[in-house]
Amino acid sequence: MIVTSVRVRDFRSYAGAEAHVGPRLTVVHGPNGSGKTNLLEALYFGCTGRSFRTTNDRELVRFGHSTTRVEVTLEDRDHQSHLLAVGYSPGEPKHVTLDGAPLERLLDDERRPLVSVFAPDRLELIKGVPQLRRAHLDQLVGALWPARAATRRSYGEALAQRNALLIRVRGGRASADALRAWDLELGRLGIELSANRARAVDLIAEPFAEHAEALGLEGAVRLAYRPRSRAASAEELAEEIAAALDHDLARGYTTFGPHRDELVFRRAGRDLRAYGSQGEQRVALLALLLAERDTLAEQRDRPPLLLLDDVMSELDARRREHLAARIAARGQAVVSATELAHVPGATEAGVADIDVGELIAQEA
Ligand SMILES: Nc1ncnc2c1ncn2[C@@H]1O[C@H](COP(=O)(O)OP(=O)(O)OP(=O)(O)O)[C@@H](O)[C@H]1O
Ligand SMILES: [Mg+2]
Repeated sequence: MIVTSVRVRDFRSYAGAEAHVGPRLTVVHGPNGSGKTNLLEALYFGCTGRSFRTTNDRELVRFGHSTTRVEVTLEDRDHQSHLLAVGYSPGEPKHVTLDGAPLERLLDDERRPLVSVFAPDRLELIKGVPQLRRAHLDQLVGALWPARAATRRSYGEALAQRNALLIRVRGGRASADALRAWDLELGRLGIELSANRARAVDLIAEPFAEHAEALGLEGAVRLAYRPRSRAASAEELAEEIAAALDHDLARGYTTFGPHRDELVFRRAGRDLRAYGSQGEQRVALLALLLAERDTLAEQRDRPPLLLLDDVMSELDARRREHLAARIAARGQAVVSATELAHVPGATEAGVADIDVGELIAQEA
């Protein structure tokens, strides 16, 4: 499934606009404030029903208007075209349709295009709290093996139940014996969850190291999943969880388990989160997204649409060239830049498919 165009109505700064998305690299360029990020956000919103910039969807509706709509045109393997539409009015549930038929859970729907985003804020994935990296990794697991996404959800539910029970045990309103059932449940789901994550990291680790090197990140760059537990079975993990009970009661939550695991980025043996420069962290994030795309293309023949916002201006000329060559190599990518010249090769026919000035038919 590829994205061929996006059309928006009253989305952010756009009253109405339409843009074509090419099969490889598409460049969106224009001065600051011209609506480049808004357009990438619209693509993301049309494919996922969410924004990568905000959790407050109200911000997406053009000032002074009460409803917004984004339509994404898709083309499947048989060259049949499909229309994915997301309509939103604040205070009401989003209305999503595929070829006119309502869709309940767009994010989990296999027919939607996968999307992956680089934006300056997303550096948090490298330098922020571990929870962000775990969530990202869990999304990758879900994209690689859709059926396994349920394990993460069930684990989260069991964890919430155990945490609620811990509070009651602490208050003397329940017996600690009652926790046993949840220890076993977390052991069972947790061992699966860790195995899925480890398998996903195994798949992306090598392409990650290659992309990082090609993008000029020097020193051996490694990606590793670091689970807290060494348990080899569900029972062993359940025992480890049970053994932390005193600690859990003191803290008021479950302190041991895969919900505390880490995904670590290292360069020359040191954690990039703590020691990486901004530029190194940026390259690591790009290498991660490219490695995931390669893996999804190989394993599932389903490379995500890459949205790269404001990435070129921060890279030096050599890295820009590497990046432009890599992103155009497989799958679709939409890149924003203030200057077209920041995207090497973008003036050559076939590399740049669009030029924002020409192709966005913007209404007054
Ligand atoms: N809900 C909204 N309604 C109307 N305009 C909005 C809305 N949200 C944002 N804007 C406007 O959109 C413009 C910014 O667009 P955008 O962030 O896409 O620019 P950009 O081209 O990415 O700029 P830069 O190069 O600085 O990143 C701002 O002028 C902002 O005021
Ligand atoms: Mg922008």
